[in-house]
Amino acid sequence: MNKIILTGDRPTGRLHLGHYVGSLKRRVQLQNSGEYDKIFIMIADAQALTDNADHPEKVRENIIEVALDYLSVGLDPEKSNLFIQSYVTELTELTFYYMNLVTVARLERNPTVKSEIQMRNFEATIPVGFFTYPISQASDITAFKATTVPVGEDQLPMIEQTREIVRKFNAVYGDGKEVLVEPKALVPENSICSRLPGTDGKAKMSKSLGNCIYLSDDAETVRQKVMSMYTDPGHIKVEDPGKVEGNAVFTYLDAFATDESFAEFLPDYKNLDELKDHYRRGGLGDVKVKKFLLNVINKELDPIRQRRAEYEKNIPAVYDILKKGSEAAQLEAAKTLAEVKAAMRINYFDDAELIQAQQEKFNK
Ligand code: TRP
Repeated sequence: MNKIILTGDRPTGRLHLGHYVGSLKRRVQLQNSGEYDKIFIMIADAQALTDNADHPEKVRENIIEVALDYLSVGLDPEKSNLFIQSYVTELTELTFYYMNLVTVARLERNPTVKSEIQMRNFEATIPVGFFTYPISQASDITAFKATTVPVGEDQLPMIEQTREIVRKFNAVYGDGKEVLVEPKALVPENSICSRLPGTDGKAKMSKSLGNCIYLSDDAETVRQKVMSMYTDPGHIKVEDPGKVEGNAVFTYLDAFATDESFAEFLPDYKNLDELKDHYRRGGLGDVKVKKFLLNVINKELDPIRQRRAEYEKNIPAVYDILKKGSEAAQLEAAKTLAEVKAAMRINYFDDAELIQAQQEKFNK
C-alpha cells in the first residue's frame, strides 16, 4: 500500500513555535525521509471559516502567511503538495455523504470540539458547520487515502473520528472491499512538543493570549519576547533555588535544546540536566538561561527567516505554487470521490448494469 501523508492548518494567523515543534518540523523530516509516496499539506480555509464566518478577510489574509510559513520551514513544493482546502470542492461532497454515518451524539462527545465550543462561548449558538467540522476533516484525510496524519495531540479525536467513519463506510458500502483507508496519527515523540506553553507560561501558545513567538518574528522581537518570558516567580535573586517545572524557559529548552546546543552556546554545561540541576540548587540567574534559549531559538529560526525573505520577494509565485498544488490535489480527491460514489452505487450514469436492470423491470 502507498504511504501517504495528509495534514494541514487553519489559516487564522501566522504559525508559531508551538506549530513548529508540534508538527511542522516533523513534516519536513518526513518529507525529506523519502519514505512517503505522496505528501499533501493543506491550508484549511474552509475549516477556518467554520468559526470565522463573519471574518472571511481574516482567513483570506492568512492564507499567504501560512503558505510562507510552510515554505520557509522547508516544505518543498517539489516534494510536498501544498494546497488550499476550498479549491477542492470534492471534499465538501464527501462530507455530505459521511454526515449520514455519524450521529449528533458522537459529535457531541468529541473532546476537541467540546473544549473549542467552551473556548468560543458557542454553547447556545454553535454553527452547524463548526459542529460538523470533524466530519469534514475526515473527508480531508480520506480523500487522499492518507495513511499517516502528522498532528499535535489535540487532533487525536479527529483522527479517531475519521477511523470510525472509514470503518462504517467500508462496512456499509464496501462490499468486502476497503474503499477508504484508515489513517494513523503521528504525534510528536517528545510530549512537551505537543503542548508548548505560551511565553507567559499559560497552557498553550495562542494568538488571543498574545503569548506566541512567531516563525516570522524578527530577531529583535524574539529577543524581547524571550527576555520577558515567565520563569519561576519564587526565583528572585540569583542565589535562590529555582523551580524548573512550570518554568516556561525550561519547557522551551526541553523542546529545543540538544547537547549540541550546549557545546555551541553554553559549554560550561554538558546538557540540559546539568543546567536544570544548577538552577534548582541556586546560583544560576534567569538572564543567563534566557540568553541561552534565545541563541537556541535563533539558530532554528535564522534559516527559516532567510527562506521566508526570499519567498516574500515573489508573492505571485507563492500563489502559483498553491494553485498548482490545489489542481493536483483536486485530481486526487476526484478519484476518491468517484470510488465513493461507485461504492454507494450513486454513479448512475456510469452504471450500465443498473440502466439495463431498470430497462428489464419496465419490459415485464
Ligand atoms: N484541525 C486542524 C487544525 O486546527 C486543521 C486540519 C483540517 C487538519 N483538516 C485536517 C489537520 C486534516 C490534519 C488533517 O489545525
